[in-house]
Amino acid sequence: MHNVYKLNDSIYWIGANDRRISLFENHFPLSEGVSYNSYFIDGEETAVMDTADDAVLTQYFENLAYVLNGRALNYIIVQHMEPDHCAGLAMLAEKHPEAKIVVNCKTAAFIKQMFPLADKLSERFVTVCDGQSLQVGDTALTFCMAPMVHWPEVMVTYDSTHKILFSADAFGSFGALNGNIVNDKCDMKAKLSEYRRYYTNIVGKYGMQAAKLLGKASGLDIRMICPLHGLVLVQDFDFILDKYTKWASYTPEDKAIMIAFASMYHHTENAAEILACALDRRGVRDIVMYDVSRTDVSYLVAEAFRCSHIVLAAPTYMNELYPEMANFIRSLQSHALRDRKTAVIGNGTWANQANKTMISMLEGMKNTEVLGSLEFMSAPGPDKVKELEELAETIAASLR
Ligand SMILES: Cc1cc2nc3c(=O)[nH]c(=O)nc-3n(C[C@H](O)[C@H](O)[C@H](O)COP(=O)(O)O)c2cc1C
Ligand SMILES: [Fe+2]
Ligand SMILES: [Fe+2]
Repeated sequence: MHNVYKLNDSIYWIGANDRRISLFENHFPLSEGVSYNSYFIDGEETAVMDTADDAVLTQYFENLAYVLNGRALNYIIVQHMEPDHCAGLAMLAEKHPEAKIVVNCKTAAFIKQMFPLADKLSERFVTVCDGQSLQVGDTALTFCMAPMVHWPEVMVTYDSTHKILFSADAFGSFGALNGNIVNDKCDMKAKLSEYRRYYTNIVGKYGMQAAKLLGKASGLDIRMICPLHGLVLVQDFDFILDKYTKWASYTPEDKAIMIAFASMYHHTENAAEILACALDRRGVRDIVMYDVSRTDVSYLVAEAFRCSHIVLAAPTYMNELYPEMANFIRSLQSHALRDRKTAVIGNGTWANQANKTMISMLEGMKNTEVLGSLEFMSAPGPDKVKELEELAETIAASLR
């Protein structure tokens, strides 16, 4: 049975939730599912914005059939060719041979690659460029290229009739939608951590491109943002934009410390705990600690974007840095994190490699300062407790 949500007289949400998915992109753990949003533009002419993931296509096509109510579909607008939004494209085009397919130059190539057997689709392409407009009944759409937010062919669409930005994956989040499709009945602060985890892990690497899009969007009169995942946004714009501006520029949200440790037999963990209590004694608030072997790296990346200070503590393992810690720092590098204050604590029993590996990896991150490096052999003794106190003093002073 259809399940659609009327956003205004002309625009409907026709997306669907997947609550059974455990790994988004077979990679990011999801505890509360994800929504695949698609939008229907109603009027004398009709259009859909994107399709949905394979997992929800049955629901998606029921929703579309309901809003169309037997009428022709005039346009299929393709904003993004990642399969979580285009999986239904060939099937939709086949169900609606009357529909023109609105693409940009890059999209056209990707459609041919993604659907090699649907070679007739290209005959129906309407190719648009940056700034080009399309009238769908009463609704005036303008297309805006947003390359690398987070794929090269991404475009967003501004509906100047209703002041709506169809933002593709930008402003999206993990998490299924629970009836409240629009954020006017939601506490955005409570949802922020999943917005952050989504943005930092999916788009985080492309901060410059995301900032460019934010700049373009700031010149538009926007009353509603319709992303491809998560809530439709109609309020709390200042709160949300402030967060995205910080994430896109790698500016820490909080003057705060994150301690990420790796440990097999608890000695490195012990050193991290001693440091954390020493920080508390110096008035440092809201310290967060993560065992990198126990926390999915997507949560660690998100916290690293939030915090101004990061302490990494890890043992040596087979003459290298402990693998889960190496993976975490590699993820920070690959998401282009920068402008952080850091410190490292390394441990080895016969030939410590941890400190120099962590420092050289951190030095590869732009404008990232290593405030201190503390080494110990096997287990921290009284002399190391003193050094941990000194390191806490340095970090606390930097946080002040
Ligand atoms: C499989 C394995 C490999 C290790 N490889 C090294 C090494 O290459 N160099 C070294 O100095 N210590 C090595 N160690 C020793 C650890 O660094 C040492 O046990 C350290 O104290 C672990 O800290 P933890 O108690 O926090 O796990 C290794 C330990 C294990 C279990
Ligand atoms: Fe995407
Ligand atoms: Fe997506």
